Amino acid sequence: VSTGLVRSIAEIRRRAGEARQAGRTVGLVPTMGALHAGHGALIDRARRDADLVVVSVFVNSIQFDRPEDYASYARDLREDLDFCQARCVDVVFAPDAREMYPAEPATFVEVAGVSDHLCGRFRPGHFRGVATVVAKLLNIVQPDIAYFGEKDAQQLAVIRRMASDLNFPVAIVPVPTVREPDGLAMSSRNRRLSPEERRAATALYRALETARRRFAAGAEDPEDIKRAALAVLENEPQIRLEYLEVVDPEEMQPVDRVRGSVRLSAAVWLGSTRLIDNVLCVPSERPA
Ligand code: PAF
Repeated sequence: VSTGLVRSIAEIRRRAGEARQAGRTVGLVPTMGALHAGHGALIDRARRDADLVVVSVFVNSIQFDRPEDYASYARDLREDLDFCQARCVDVVFAPDAREMYPAEPATFVEVAGVSDHLCGRFRPGHFRGVATVVAKLLNIVQPDIAYFGEKDAQQLAVIRRMASDLNFPVAIVPVPTVREPDGLAMSSRNRRLSPEERRAATALYRALETARRRFAAGAEDPEDIKRAALAVLENEPQIRLEYLEVVDPEEMQPVDRVRGSVRLSAAVWLGSTRLIDNVLCVPSERPA
């Protein structure tokens, strides 16, 4: 497979439409580029499921709550194309900002409830920007299947809810988080960490795993579970905690008592870099 590069909405519509007409399934992996092994797992899954694999690369200005984060977001299309070529992607759809937003958009998709807590609370407008661009990408490419990482669990919940509420004819497929050998979740933002911050960053997953063990031991009080994580984070002076919550995995609402599965989600800062991570806790881990 030689990966094609498509810049225009008309052309990607034509390519995906032709495939559908020929009875081929279309898989879409939406990304903002700076591709890493986490995206690799999404692409590999799409390659297994779908006949035509489209990876979109678009740094979506309207989902950034801090202009400096948008300005400094890693962009290297050449590298992303090589990455996709090595994974047998059929087409990279990389529109520029004018192609996606020829005028200031007046229409936005707002997913209430699931967007309210966690990142939604600390990044005003973020999920509105994500839901809006994903709705546009789904309308443009019209894939049968679209893939999203569980590392961004709240984003996944927002997109699932949007696709269900608005009847998008697409299957939303979650893909497990890919981690570095020391547990740090793969993220484009990891490359911004200094060596010292990179070392300290491992405390985030360690904290979540420590809390998951509290859950597995039978803890039912979310405060008790959170305390286990906080004890680990407090030992790492470089880390500034933004939030740590125990939420139900579908609605992403904080729970006051643990019943069934929960997700432990956290956001931390290391210097000027913000990292998020989460772990799912399922009842089968607990004593009968
Ligand atoms: O997860 C991301 O990279 C982005 O939020 C997404 C889904 C591509 C929308 O811009």
